[in-house]
Amino acid sequence: MLILDNNSRQPLHNKIYHQIKNQILSGKLPPMTKLLSIKNLANELSVSRNTVEYAYQQLYAEGYITSKPRSGYYVSVMDPEFFASSLRHTGTSLEKNSDKEKAYSFDFHPACLSAESFPVNLWRKLYTECLKEDYKQLAFYGSQQGDLALRHEIQKYLAHSRGVSCAPEQIVICSGLQDSLSLIAPILREHHSILAVEDPGHFIPKSVFQNYSFSLVPIPVNQDGIDLEYLNSTTSTVVYVTPSHQFPLGCVMPVANRLKLIEWAEKVGGVIIEDDYDSELRYYGKPIPALQGLHSRGNIVYMGTFSKVLSPALRVSYMVLPYQLLTTYHKIFKDYSTNVSFLEQRTLNKLMELGYWERHLRKMRTIYKKKHDALIQSIHHHFGSQVNIIGEGAGLHIVLELVGNSLTEEELMSRARSSAVRLLPLSMTYLHHRGKHSQIMLGFGSMNNLEIDQGIQRLYQAWYF
Ligand SMILES: Cc1ncc(COP(=O)(O)O)c(C=O)c1O
Repeated sequence: MLILDNNSRQPLHNKIYHQIKNQILSGKLPPMTKLLSIKNLANELSVSRNTVEYAYQQLYAEGYITSKPRSGYYVSVMDPEFFASSLRHTGTSLEKNSDKEKAYSFDFHPACLSAESFPVNLWRKLYTECLKEDYKQLAFYGSQQGDLALRHEIQKYLAHSRGVSCAPEQIVICSGLQDSLSLIAPILREHHSILAVEDPGHFIPKSVFQNYSFSLVPIPVNQDGIDLEYLNSTTSTVVYVTPSHQFPLGCVMPVANRLKLIEWAEKVGGVIIEDDYDSELRYYGKPIPALQGLHSRGNIVYMGTFSKVLSPALRVSYMVLPYQLLTTYHKIFKDYSTNVSFLEQRTLNKLMELGYWERHLRKMRTIYKKKHDALIQSIHHHFGSQVNIIGEGAGLHIVLELVGNSLTEEELMSRARSSAVRLLPLSMTYLHHRGKHSQIMLGFGSMNNLEIDQGIQRLYQAWYF
């Protein structure tokens, strides 16, 4: 029996998710217990089916529940050690979870890099130099917007490589997308409450904006990115988009659509949030310039990250605020200090200032292009014409669509898990709209070419035999 706390401002699906998760972790819902159907739980709680479905999808994506075709959702069988430690301390459960992840032989996570690609020696050298030169600064808090010299370097880099036009005073150094969005959400909340997201799309923006009480409007994605006609038919006044490499489907928004999107924002007095997360990694043809550069005085918030090319563990990203929002930013966050470590910022600044960043970028593009090509070749070799590859040619993942296979996504995931292959389900990126075939995300960042091929072969055997 679930009891929803009416005093909590959490979105309903979060409340349902947390209650079921806690019941699983506390043993109240033992492994193999069948959950109420989406319809029955929605009726029992007087909430919409979508709300329950969203909570179930989250539990499924995190491995707390599994699904049996035509039967329903069941509590997963979990490692007892994981279970016991979760009971003692929820924080520990996360550590155990990542230990569990290490048990996979092949990791197709779409956002992981290979450990060897991080420039360890160079980073150590520059970090030590910064420590010697700047140690006196360690006695102080940093300014909210981050290190000014680093902001200058980012501004120069964005101008020449991404076509972004801004001044260092518009840049805020953040500790990842979640941090940037948590800063922008309260700023936007002053005048906006309805926000459009790509469907499928990244799950972090949905979660952050819901936590700030935005109503989310899922907008379907077509071969040109977000469906602008659909967007126009909604009442949203803010949109979160990934125009240069739609996440997760990989399409590029053509310039005509970018201009229409800018027009839409002007018409509704709205704001565009442009997430340019992996634009550096385009393997064929020219890089796609950022949308922000088409209308630098427009209400466009631009976001970028060092996670894709340098390291997701450093937690350094940046956002460019339009002048229209800068005053509110200063008003709301005047007493805040930065979330990003001073030494990491200084080291990154040195890396960029001395020209190492561009060199590293070129190197990473070559490394990840080879991995990308190895993945595509391996898929063709093992799967032949039984699959479609969606979103190739850029970034760190593709989407694999199985055409003549009747296995559901849950079955594909579960067979992969049993074969020690780690995958992320595409369904975790959807709010409503779904493709007609089973689709799986395949990241190629963390494995070498041989492992990629062996992993693909393992998947083929798991799914077809
Ligand atoms: C769509 C999208 N945006 C942004 C990011 C980067 O996030 P962060 O800077 O928090 O590492 C990712 C990482 O996978 C992503 O998929």
